[in-house]
Amino acid sequence: MEPTPAAWAAADAHLADLFVGDDPALDSALAAQRAAGLPEIEVAPVAGKLLNLLVRMSGARRVLEIGTLGGYSTIWLARAVGDQGRVVTIEAEPANAAIARASIDAAGVGARVEIRVGRGADVLPTLVGGFDLVFIDADKESNTVYLDWAARLGHPGTVVVLDNVGREGEIVREDSDDPKVIGTRAGLRMLADDPRFDATALQTVGAKGWDGVALALVV
Ligand code: DHB
Ligand code: MG
Repeated sequence: MEPTPAAWAAADAHLADLFVGDDPALDSALAAQRAAGLPEIEVAPVAGKLLNLLVRMSGARRVLEIGTLGGYSTIWLARAVGDQGRVVTIEAEPANAAIARASIDAAGVGARVEIRVGRGADVLPTLVGGFDLVFIDADKESNTVYLDWAARLGHPGTVVVLDNVGREGEIVREDSDDPKVIGTRAGLRMLADDPRFDATALQTVGAKGWDGVALALVV
């Protein structure tokens, strides 16, 4: 196969068929956010499943998400924490939060999810710590702020997942003037250098093109 974006997407669809399949609640959540015109930047189905597995593999019961969007990834996380588990998810845009609230409730996991509406930088200082897994998927310009809070609100053993660290390879551009690339590079640098983290990052290709995800442990 030629390694084109279309081929990446086709292979990703095959993997999603195998490992996700039909999922009416998730399909409804996507339909609702598409209908509302939200950007189509939610995690891919196979990445949602990865988040779900990471929560269960790590035994996380308290999960923090920064960047709810329409609640698609939130549903994956909330399903994983179990009946006694909780997800706190932060969303800056009230309209997004309303769509997410409805989709999360319709998915049957509403009692596990608290949506905090506001900018991460404003909401994070108000949270009580003890999070076992933190998923950062918000404005890339603030990645280092979010990583700092992830360490402060976590504990040794907390799993941190940082989305969108590939950016079509633009992460190698030291002189980039794209704020998202600058923020992504800063986040990766922090994960590499900050002694609170031990981390790695993987590039991905698939439904969302050429991107990547970083995984870190709070040590
Ligand atoms: C963008 C943000 C995301 O969270 C994502 O998964 C893809 C793209 C963006 O802002 O460009
Ligand atoms: Mg993302």
